[in-house]
Amino acid sequence: MFDLTGRVALVTGASRGLGRADALALARAGCDVVVADLLVESDPNLEEVAAASDSVMARVMVTDRVVFTERTAKQIREMGRRAEAVQLDVTDFQVVREAVDRIVENFGHLDILVNNAGAHDHVAQIMDQSPDLWERDLRVNLTGAYNCSQAVWPHMRAQSFGRLIFMSSITGVAGGFGQASSSTTSAGILGLMRSLALEGARHGITSNAVVAGIIATESFRTTPPEMVDRMVLRTAMRAPGQPEDVAAAVCYLASTEAAYVTGVQLPVAGGIDLFTF
Ligand SMILES: NC(=O)c1ccc[n+]([C@@H]2O[C@H](COP(=O)([O-])OP(=O)(O)OC[C@H]3O[C@@H](n4cnc5c(N)ncnc54)[C@H](O)[C@@H]3O)[C@@H](O)[C@H]2O)c1
Repeated sequence: MFDLTGRVALVTGASRGLGRADALALARAGCDVVVADLLVESDPNLEEVAAASDSVMARVMVTDRVVFTERTAKQIREMGRRAEAVQLDVTDFQVVREAVDRIVENFGHLDILVNNAGAHDHVAQIMDQSPDLWERDLRVNLTGAYNCSQAVWPHMRAQSFGRLIFMSSITGVAGGFGQASSSTTSAGILGLMRSLALEGARHGITSNAVVAGIIATESFRTTPPEMVDRMVLRTAMRAPGQPEDVAAAVCYLASTEAAYVTGVQLPVAGGIDLFTF
């Protein structure tokens, strides 16, 4: 699709879902990829890590063994690319900075960051939103993306090339019923993305966001089916998107062809953002 041969990408939250699809698509396009996630299948403390993240999703995924961080890296190596699985908590800046420095040392450079790690299982109307989960969502979804962007920045600036790609959601633009923390962080991501687009423009660093509608990832398992049905009915295309639809947009934004595209929020949403009736 796009030729990314020779580029090195770091994808966060890549144990499954959109992050995993992004990592595989970037590798198919020629990238070497670091597949990073809080959850790594060989971790003997996996269940404790999932429990500590206070995420329903993480617990379900660990119980159901839907953690593919190392297997994704292996799959990428089988394509003939370099790949590494890294256990990384994006909320810890020190850990992120050390990981990024190690990646640059091992791979020689780091060109693409896909800020995909996220927690979005906190679904409750305002009076039932939990202050602890609100804080967790700010920490993972916003501070996590900020931490990773700041850690890669000096490397991208020094080489006068970088691609920052953020994951946002339609709820960040339109709001989401019962999704105060998720929609607020999705909106915040767009502000961070645009600010870094301005700061990076003179240094060869572009910064863009994919605004996803409803995409059929594993996280659908924890979404009540009637909620999925309602969202599908609001989508002009009357169907959820596939992770590959998002991954194709990520590859474009990472490409040389997108060199003059920055500060953009690109909907991959099947028209859920359009007026439908
Ligand atoms: N699937 C959708 O319909 C949809 C729609 C809009 C936006 N998004 C956004 O896209 C991203 C991925 O979506 P998904 O459906 O694949 O979600 P997902 O929950 O399946 O994947 C998120 C990944 O992030 C990881 N993660 C969580 N906390 C972390 C931390 N502190 N450090 C590192 N990794 C951590 C999880 O382990 C998981 O692998 C999320 O940011 C989500 O908000 C998804």
